[in-house]
Amino acid sequence: MEKVLEVKDLNISFHTFAGEVKAIRGVSFDLMKGETLAIVGESGSGKSVTTKSIMGLLPPGNSEVKKGEILFDGNDLTKLSDRQMQKIRGKEISMIFQDPMTSLNPTMKIGKQIMEPIIKHQKLSKAAAKERAIELLRLVGIPQPEVRFQQYPHQFSGGMRQRVVIAIALACNPKILIADEPTTALDVTIQAQILELMKDLQTKIDTSIIFITHDLGVVANVADRVAVMYGGKIVEIGTVDEIFYNPQHPYTWGLLSSMPDLETSGTELYAIPGTPPDLLNPPKGDPFAPRNQYAMQIDLEEEPPMFKVSDTHYAATWLLHPDAPKVSPPEAVLKRRSHFLAAKGGK
Ligand SMILES: Nc1ncnc2c1ncn2[C@@H]1O[C@H](COP(=O)(O)OP(=O)(O)OP(=O)(O)O)[C@@H](O)[C@H]1O
Ligand SMILES: [Mg+2]
Repeated sequence: MEKVLEVKDLNISFHTFAGEVKAIRGVSFDLMKGETLAIVGESGSGKSVTTKSIMGLLPPGNSEVKKGEILFDGNDLTKLSDRQMQKIRGKEISMIFQDPMTSLNPTMKIGKQIMEPIIKHQKLSKAAAKERAIELLRLVGIPQPEVRFQQYPHQFSGGMRQRVVIAIALACNPKILIADEPTTALDVTIQAQILELMKDLQTKIDTSIIFITHDLGVVANVADRVAVMYGGKIVEIGTVDEIFYNPQHPYTWGLLSSMPDLETSGTELYAIPGTPPDLLNPPKGDPFAPRNQYAMQIDLEEEPPMFKVSDTHYAATWLLHPDAPKVSPPEAVLKRRSHFLAAKGGK
């Protein structure tokens, strides 16, 4: 498979009054053509900073790429000027955010908003751009696209607005679409519809998607692969099957255990104890160690490397060292594994 993006040993810091926040600490991953890669992890784990760096949208004042490369189309995106990035952003790589209202201009008809990037980047005539805009509205499941073309954002529901945002993001046939929690601002039924749309789009276009979410529940349905982030690092990466069926990192076990399912009611939901590491003073050793009931002495002393589980599956936990004691994942993870298999069998 063809790689469209290679992130290599990325390290990003923010300079703040309190000191240097080491937000991203050695992140590496590839994105393949046409795949959907989900990035999951608790708040503050570095999901948005990673994708903002790909878009060239890190705050210019206090952020610094300390180390690493983001290779796209023969360029290292971390080295490009803002002018050069502007040619890529919205054309080759585009992004949709949580709240569709902030991405749309309330005073401009949505047709015009979709035509804008097409005219800017693809230099199409107005008539051709209009045709393309209507086609895009149809692609994202907006009924009566010719009528909707003439309307303003306030005439759309939240879910329909997010569809418009997705249409704008796809306007120039980007190679990469980044969706940062695209459904969390929407209510639950609408969330499901947008996720259904994302899944459907996957089969219709060959854009690669990076899908950021807190919610492992949606991952099984929309993603091909999953990267689990913790404390500014990827601690486990693998195919959806590998992450759900054969997870290796105790943090991934924690995330899987804290997923609601049909049998557990909200009150008995598991939460991973403790808090994420302080990125002003990242700990020595495995940053998850203080929250890890399986932690060993070495976890407090030395950072685990990425151990290979399969050609597609890697995890950074000392439990994978050949000399480590064999521990089996908690009951909730084993239960989730059988649910996952049953759901797959039922597909
Ligand atoms: N502009 C900034 N200045 C200082 N620190 C920042 C800045 N932006 C992000 N950070 C820090 O970088 C770390 C990673 O933040 P990031 O926004 O990537 O988290 P996230 O995984 O996207 O979380 P969430 O799920 O809440 O969106 C956090 O510790 C955050 O406080
Ligand atoms: Mg975020």
